[in-house]
Amino acid sequence: MRRVLIIGAGGREHAIAWKISKSNLLGKLFCAPGNPGTLQVAQNLEIDIKDFQAIKEAVLDNNIDMVVVGPEEPLVNGLKDFFAKETLLKNITFIGPDSQGAMLEGSKDFAKSFMLKHNIPTSMYNSFNIETLEEGYRYLESIKSPYVLKADGLAAGKGVLILDDLDEAKKELTQMLNGKFGKAGNMVVIEEFLSGIELSVFVLTDGNNYLILPEAKDYKRIGEGDTGLNTGGMGAVSPVPFANSTFMKKVEERVVIPTIEGLKKEKIEYSGFIFIGLMNCNEEPYVIEYNVRMGDPETEAVMPRIKSDLLAHLIATGNGTLAKEQIETDPGTALTLVMVSKGYPNSYQKGYPIEISNNLKEDLLFHSGTKLQEKKLVTNGGRVFALTTLTDSIHKGRETIYQLAKGVNFQGVQYRKDIGLDLI
Ligand code: AMP
Ligand code: GLY
Repeated sequence: MRRVLIIGAGGREHAIAWKISKSNLLGKLFCAPGNPGTLQVAQNLEIDIKDFQAIKEAVLDNNIDMVVVGPEEPLVNGLKDFFAKETLLKNITFIGPDSQGAMLEGSKDFAKSFMLKHNIPTSMYNSFNIETLEEGYRYLESIKSPYVLKADGLAAGKGVLILDDLDEAKKELTQMLNGKFGKAGNMVVIEEFLSGIELSVFVLTDGNNYLILPEAKDYKRIGEGDTGLNTGGMGAVSPVPFANSTFMKKVEERVVIPTIEGLKKEKIEYSGFIFIGLMNCNEEPYVIEYNVRMGDPETEAVMPRIKSDLLAHLIATGNGTLAKEQIETDPGTALTLVMVSKGYPNSYQKGYPIEISNNLKEDLLFHSGTKLQEKKLVTNGGRVFALTTLTDSIHKGRETIYQLAKGVNFQGVQYRKDIGLDLI
C-alpha cells in the first residue's frame, strides 16, 4: 500500500488526487499544500513547496514513499536532484524529471535545439541575446509575419508574444532582451508562426517505455471565439475529434518515440509526464512546446477518462516496468469548464463566498482557486473551479456542463459559453 504525496495546489492536482484516491494500491494520500478540493480525498500538508527541506521533513514524518509533482517550477528548480542526493529520500518513487530533463520546459532554446537534433517536427527558429540583438533584427526581417517571440526561461505563461508588425516585433525583442520578463528573457527564441489547430498530448514515461494518455484541447483565451487575453486555460475537451488514429500514429512515431529516444541519447534519465503542445498543420503534427508536467485544465478532462489504475502506472514508472502496463480509457467525452473570477486574467478580487448546489456531483468539481475561511469556502484565485462532465458526446457534454454550472455561484463568476463548440 503506497503513501503518496502530490505537490501543488490547483485543479490539476485535485484531479490527480481524485484519480489516485480511487486506487486499491493506495494506503494514504497527501497533498502539499493542496486546496479545499484535495481535502475531500487527501490530507493537506501546509508547506511551502519552494522549501525543499520542508518537503523532505513532510515526506519523512508521514512515511511517504511516492512523490508526484504537479507544477513545473519545483522540477526546474531541482527537487528531483535534491531527492537523489539525500540518503533518506533517494529510494522514494519520484514522478517528475530532474533539472536537466526539466530544461525541456525551463528553456525554450534547449527544447528547440533538442527537437532539431532529434528530427522532431517543429517550426524554424533562432535564439538571440542582448549581444546579438542586431542579428535578431536581421532575422526578423528575413522571416514572414506573424512573428513569434518567446522568452527562453519560465515566465508564468506570459513570455510568448505573437506580433504582426515588424517594427513592433523589433521593439518587443529589444524590450524582452532588456528585462521585460526578468532573466527569463535573457535569451529570446524567435520562431516561425505555425498555422493550424492546437492540441495537448500527454505521455507518461519511465525513460524507456511510455503510455500515451488521453489527449485534450485547451481553450486558452479569455473570450468566446478565442478572443481576448491569454489565460491559464478556460476549458478543455478530451478526446479531440481531429486527433484520429492516423494523426495520433504520426504523433507517436514522429514525436513521442524520437523524444524518448532523444532523452536517452542525451543521457537524461526522465521519469514522469511529458506534455507535448502540438499544432495540427494540414494533418501534420508540429511541436510548439514541451512541458514536463500535466496541463491545467487539460488534466481535469484527462483524469476522468482514464479507466485503468493511474497509481499502478505511476508505480510501474518508478520501477521502470511501464512496458508491462496498459492504459484503458473511457471512450466517452470529457468536457471541462473553468469558472473564473471577474477581471481575470487581469486583477480580480478574492474572498467571495461560494455556494454549491446540493445536486451538483461534487466528484467532478475540481477546485483551483478556493480556500476555507472560518470553515466557509471562498474564492482565492483567478481560476476558481474546473467543472468536468463525462458524457457520450460534446453536444451532450455542453448541455450538461452549462446546466451544472448554474449550481456554482460566487460574486462575479464568469466562464466561456463556447467550450467544445468549435469541435462539433
Ligand atoms: P507556449 O508558451 O510556447 O505554449 O506558447 C503559448 C501559445 O502561443 C501557444 O499555446 C500557441 O497558441 C502560441 N504559439 C506558440 N508558438 C507558436 C508558433 N510557432 N506558431 C503559432 N502559435 C504559436
Ligand atoms: N493548459 C496549458 C498548460 O497547462 O500549460
